Amino acid sequence: MRRYIANPLAFPAAHPQGYPTLKDEPEFDARKHLAIELPSQTTSLSDFGYPDDEIAECPTDLAITSTFRILSPEGAACLLEVARLLEPHARSVERISRMVRGGAYQSKFLRDFCSSPVLAEAMSNICRTPLLPHTIPHQLGHLNYNPEKVGENVDKWHVDTLRIDFVLFVTDPNSVEGGEFEYFRGTKTEVENLKRAGMPLPAEKIVQAELPGPGYAVLQQGNMVVHRAKALSAPGERITLVNGYVPRDVGFPDFTRFDQLALADPEHIAASEYSRHITWMGREALDARLNDFHFSADRQAMASELEDIASILSNAARNLRSSEKAKMEHFGDE
Ligand SMILES: [Fe+2]
Repeated sequence: MRRYIANPLAFPAAHPQGYPTLKDEPEFDARKHLAIELPSQTTSLSDFGYPDDEIAECPTDLAITSTFRILSPEGAACLLEVARLLEPHARSVERISRMVRGGAYQSKFLRDFCSSPVLAEAMSNICRTPLLPHTIPHQLGHLNYNPEKVGENVDKWHVDTLRIDFVLFVTDPNSVEGGEFEYFRGTKTEVENLKRAGMPLPAEKIVQAELPGPGYAVLQQGNMVVHRAKALSAPGERITLVNGYVPRDVGFPDFTRFDQLALADPEHIAASEYSRHITWMGREALDARLNDFHFSADRQAMASELEDIASILSNAARNLRSSEKAKMEHFGDE
């Protein structure tokens, strides 16, 4: 696979309708608010049972890390303040009862935190591959709030529509009953087969993340790790933030699921953001090719490279036209 190392894409200058800007919020200061530590353990995709050909398509062999600190206590307190200011904008989808997406348009704090180059570099080091903050703004700083109803899962078993993300506790996970973050130590195919057979996930392969407090997170290859956020078992406040990253090498297949985003995000958002993301991928792949120009007689290789870049655009165009019949995908509650 050819490598195309992309340059970052700035947050859109245009502001979408329906995302009012927060008036009075803290200012993000990376020196004060970040307190990034390294996870003590990482689990690989091969530990999960993924075969080599599937791993080869992934930008990293990381499946998931143990819990590690991202925010200082002051940073976590500021993020909690911002998350509470955004809470009145929460909405529902089939999978999640109360969530805010697109908060990066509304809150400068959230935008600066989620797009922080220092944070992206730390996540790149953990994954051992260069990453950039996600180029789809709704994949930055997704916030989940506990459902109003005690006993209802925050989010069902699922995989993400993006490659790499961290799940960070904004509230103190130890101040509530329940609300654990769990993942399945196995492959997506195993889960699909179990669900097709009407069987629950085996308890011995379910891992519960240990969370010492607010500001701690796990980093995962969210598209490859089946995970869920459990219900609270007593009334309380549970808020988590999911921040997405893209591999800086746009030669890796793009696993953005436009059909799923179109079900989660408003009509004037999903297609615009997806189309902008793909335009960036195509441009960066073309730029990398120009920057690496050399003379060669291998016209077959040249043709293949041009076809690969063209397919980034044509596949996305097909996705944009054909998403109407999609259903929101998940693996249920058990
Ligand atoms: Fe997720």
